[in-house]
Amino acid sequence: MTRRFLFLLGSSRSEGNTELLARRAAEQLPADVEQQWISLAEHPLPDFEDLRHDSDHVRPTQGDVALLLDATLAATDIVIASPLYWYSVSAHTKRYLDYWSGWLRTPGLDFKATLAGRILWGVTALAHEESEVADPLIGTLNHSAAYMGMRFGGVLLGNGSRPGDVLDDTQALARAKTFFTQEPPLARFPYEAS
Ligand SMILES: Cc1cc2nc3c(=O)[nH]c(=O)nc-3n(C[C@H](O)[C@H](O)[C@H](O)COP(=O)(O)O)c2cc1C
Repeated sequence: MTRRFLFLLGSSRSEGNTELLARRAAEQLPADVEQQWISLAEHPLPDFEDLRHDSDHVRPTQGDVALLLDATLAATDIVIASPLYWYSVSAHTKRYLDYWSGWLRTPGLDFKATLAGRILWGVTALAHEESEVADPLIGTLNHSAAYMGMRFGGVLLGNGSRPGDVLDDTQALARAKTFFTQEPPLARFPYEAS
């Protein structure tokens, strides 16, 4: 199956550090790998409404929800490129993930079965020098992948505050060169044996 990477940009500004780092990593992908880039700020989802136990969800056919759903279903690899906001993913990113809960209940999608075995990746930029403060974001993505039966490629971390700062993080740029060459294992919750 041809690899198809979906890059979801979660920053509240364009061409920020997270996007720059994600683009550096993506440059290394082979030419036959398809790439789709979607800015969640430019395609804002409405507030998520939890209808899971009230009524059946209906598959969206137009607008940004349909765009994001179709792109998600078509991707072999989903790259969450979210800056670190308050130690976790950005609100744009979180809202997109909340929609997964609705799509899990949408008849005819087989959302979980479709995503199972596919790969979730993360890219994030943060201002803090000590990268362990990003552990909540990494946990969010790892556990989401585990819940979905997906593989998890980890999170490519870069340091920076102002746009462009991450280009001075030579270690991050070096990690970007090989980030997508990994063959990630199935994600596991911390309480599961690996
Ligand atoms: C709302 C908001 C929350 C932030 N929270 C954190 C944080 O918890 N830890 C941190 O190290 N940096 C934090 N930052 C700094 C950003 O992570 C940093 O500027 C990063 O480079 C932004 O990524 P971007 O350039 O891709 O937008 C925050 C920035 C904003 C705007």
